[in-house]
Amino acid sequence: MSDSELLPKFDLHLVRKLMASLKPYTGAVVVSLVALLVSAGAELAVPILLQNGIDKGILQKDLAHLTLVSGTILGMILLGMVASFFQVYLLSRVTQDVMKDIRTTLFAHFQRQSSQYLYNHPVGKLVSAVTSDVATLSDFFNTLFTSLLKDFLVMLGVVVALFVLDAQLAFFTVLSLPPVLVLVAFFRIWSRGAFRLVRAQVSRVNAFLSEHLQGIAVVQLFGREKASREAFAKENEGLLHANLTELMVNAVFRPLIDVLWAVSLAFLIWFGTGQSLHHAVTLGVLIAFINLVGRFYQPVGSLAENFTLLQSAMAGGERVFGYLGEARPIPDRGTRPLSNAGQGTIEFENVEFRYLPDEPVLNGLTFRVEEGETVALVGYTGAGKTTITNLLTRMWDIDRGAIRFGGYELKEFRLDSLRRGIQSVLQDVFLFSGTIYDNIDLGRGLSRDRIEEVCRQVQAHEFIEKLPLGYDTPLNEGATTLSAGQRQLLSFARVLAQDPRVLILDEATANIDTETEILIQRALGELLKGRTSLVIAHRLSTIRRAHRILVLDAGRIAEEGTHEQLMEQKGFYYNLYKLQYEKGSSSE
Ligand SMILES: Nc1ncnc2c1ncn2[C@@H]1O[C@H](COP(=O)(O)OP(=O)(O)OP(=O)(O)O)[C@@H](O)[C@H]1O
Ligand SMILES: [Mg+2]
Repeated sequence: MSDSELLPKFDLHLVRKLMASLKPYTGAVVVSLVALLVSAGAELAVPILLQNGIDKGILQKDLAHLTLVSGTILGMILLGMVASFFQVYLLSRVTQDVMKDIRTTLFAHFQRQSSQYLYNHPVGKLVSAVTSDVATLSDFFNTLFTSLLKDFLVMLGVVVALFVLDAQLAFFTVLSLPPVLVLVAFFRIWSRGAFRLVRAQVSRVNAFLSEHLQGIAVVQLFGREKASREAFAKENEGLLHANLTELMVNAVFRPLIDVLWAVSLAFLIWFGTGQSLHHAVTLGVLIAFINLVGRFYQPVGSLAENFTLLQSAMAGGERVFGYLGEARPIPDRGTRPLSNAGQGTIEFENVEFRYLPDEPVLNGLTFRVEEGETVALVGYTGAGKTTITNLLTRMWDIDRGAIRFGGYELKEFRLDSLRRGIQSVLQDVFLFSGTIYDNIDLGRGLSRDRIEEVCRQVQAHEFIEKLPLGYDTPLNEGATTLSAGQRQLLSFARVLAQDPRVLILDEATANIDTETEILIQRALGELLKGRTSLVIAHRLSTIRRAHRILVLDAGRIAEEGTHEQLMEQKGFYYNLYKLQYEKGSSSE
């Protein structure tokens, strides 16, 4: 992370956006600001009332007046408390509401983006955008309104009050201001540096921790514990030093401010008392001055810190709005429902595609799958097989050429209809935390009967029934309680429940025991029956099911035919088969 990312300049454009997010809550914000004014006013009223009570009550021996003033002071303190409650409560409420809104907006925004966008934005960053970056917005509003704005009002009010009470004494008192301002400016720079250092070091420690905890098995298996521990100790030490620097800044700054306050006070007492002896200044005014100066210095101590906090909150806001301003959804301008495409043929014509600018994956790929036909696609790892399924479901869009379904280009179909009709069984099965039922239903609201029916068809019913709670068995994260084969069967059930027109099966490469293999093959029979299907096959038994085999190499079809024909050719397929399938064929 660069420095500028950690602490951006005070960006008016961003501030405007942040303020705009308050718009739905204008009423509450206005009430909160009024309450802020009231509480600042009440705070300033106290010393002024004090002056009045001393000069007109105590010194004039007017008990009735003194009682009145004391009562008013108490009233002011209570008023300030109530106003402060409303100010803080309302603002925090609004802030929480705004954060909730932005979290919702961000999540919806991410959901609309294409795989390309997600490829460029690691999940970890998106997660922290929705959680920690959004959380900094509360710092922004609270620091800005509750701390800085109120402090500023009180400090300004103090200066005004001083001059109203006694201009000459005020003038001499205010002379101590320039050193205060210089000190604040200087510490702002120092504390920014310290703050940056802490932030940078925290993110280094986090990155190190997550990597080394995720990869703990590798660390343990290779006996890297000591080296890993030492590397961590170094980062940890760095964090300690960064924190100590930050502590130091505050430890030096606050006492210095206190010294200035004390000097100012000493001066007031010395000079003010002299004036008071000459009857130029009343005792009440002098005490009010001492009180006011105290109120002036109180917020100064945290001023530098608050500025830094505000800036770091803005860095979070900048990231949040940066994400919102940047979009890369898959265009969904088609109007045609998939069901109205007549023949379910799939055609690839000179398709070119690359994930990265100069690494072509598909290079003029051309092939055709007829309605109801099962075509197997084979090729070395990395040949681009999964890529083809990504293109058919428009998880990515092609660069050149055309992909057609029933004679229409894919982009002519409505995206939701396309994805409902062309379903893929992914190579890696992703299961959500939730029950087995939820994982097959996926929020579609299917009936229990329908789900049981498809599970029977894909041979999953039997093992599900054996689970402690059957279809209601909760799956933990990653569904580690299920075997790879069982997970595969669940993913078949998901797709079959949709009854798609086209099925793409990206067969898992994971090894599966013979018994499950038989179940899967039986399930596949059910899944592929009469459906246009493209099967990326890793098992010979699956390849054998296909009517035709396409061999993918260097981004195009290198060979095509039945298993026997291709074996006879002694080309790619023959070699691939020798390498990959021959040893597996014993499991058939
Ligand atoms: N999201 C991505 N970004 C960049 N490159 C990618 C991405 N996904 C895949 N690739 C690259 O595209 C090429 C084709 O990958 P693909 O996943 O289609 O291979 P595959 O034929 O399915 O391999 P396997 O048999 O191992 O599943 C590979 O070189 C891979 O590194
Ligand atoms: Mg693949």
